[in-house]
Amino acid sequence: MKTTGPRSAHIYRATPRNLARLAAALRRGELVAVPTETVYGLAANALDEAACRHIFTAKGRPAQDPLIVHIGHLRELDAIADSNPAALILARKFWPGPLTMVLPKKSAVPGIVSAGLATVAVRLPNHPVFLRLQRLTGLPLAAPSANPFGYVSPTTARHVHDGLGARIKYILDGGPTPIGLESTIVDLRNPRRVRILRPGAVTRDQIAQALGCAVSAPRQRKPAPHAAQLAPGMLTRHYSPRTPVTLHRHLPDSPHDTFATTDAWVFFTRPLHISGKNIFALTSDGSTAAAAHRLFSTLRRLDYKGYRTIHIEEAPNGGLGDAINDRLRRAAARE
Ligand code: TXA
Ligand code: MG
Repeated sequence: MKTTGPRSAHIYRATPRNLARLAAALRRGELVAVPTETVYGLAANALDEAACRHIFTAKGRPAQDPLIVHIGHLRELDAIADSNPAALILARKFWPGPLTMVLPKKSAVPGIVSAGLATVAVRLPNHPVFLRLQRLTGLPLAAPSANPFGYVSPTTARHVHDGLGARIKYILDGGPTPIGLESTIVDLRNPRRVRILRPGAVTRDQIAQALGCAVSAPRQRKPAPHAAQLAPGMLTRHYSPRTPVTLHRHLPDSPHDTFATTDAWVFFTRPLHISGKNIFALTSDGSTAAAAHRLFSTLRRLDYKGYRTIHIEEAPNGGLGDAINDRLRRAAARE
């Protein structure tokens, strides 16, 4: 692998030898970027306060934005959080998988991880490479998405290198992340008032069905400027390319419409009769899973190309479409 200097990150393939080496780095309190099924995370020992502090520095992340703790087995949950029957139902149904639960925090988890909140966000990822590494460390791993704060989340090891290559040493390559959007976050502090904080691949309907009760949708409002963030969704501008993004419910799809060549035009599904170098689509067949998988890499690729504006069409509402539209609204937010 080509490196650009002594501080430049190396991308490691998931060989037994590399995994042992990266597990040792995590145990020493160093940062390692890791693949998960959602997006790449920037991991550190969640029980080591100094190691977690480095995550915030490397990302340029404000201290009031709490981290997710990743475990490798359900039995590790008790050391991190107080669980409850609803949490156990969801864990058994959706773990390993793209579901993060917010629960009362155990004191072993340093305050920096949860930004001083009395709660902690926990998930058990469904990615073989992540699980092999985590099990070698035997540690809970705190990990936000492995991108500079506010930028589009990384879905390949190369994306991590592009954003954080000068600030970290170790990137573990697990290939492109299968889902491509961050996990669903659900607030389970009070099992009788369950609320989605961030939509993701596990949908509100699936959670409501598993629990047999109503589940509230994410609240759309901004946080008080210095308050600890209850949910990432409360920060309006997030997941943003540098190129301005304009969101459209529908893009015009007549061949007679004009699509300025200074701009990129991203359809949800490709219209058969429109083509051009600046015309793109998230899916060829309307699949929301395929669109989610490609969303962040498409935004990045177009951002690198220097268009004046990226015009992008929303996904159909419902299910994974809601998670895609949530990220699109944040990418398009101006503040
Ligand atoms: O899929 C994912 O969730 C990825 C992978 C790496 O697991 N991680 C991820 O982390 O997206 P991050 O840091 O980009 O987003 C985590 C969000 C934070 O923005 C924070 O607001 C929310 O989780 N969060 C963490 N702890 C919380 C808590 N105690 N209460 C409410 N929200 C919390
Ligand atoms: Mg993030």
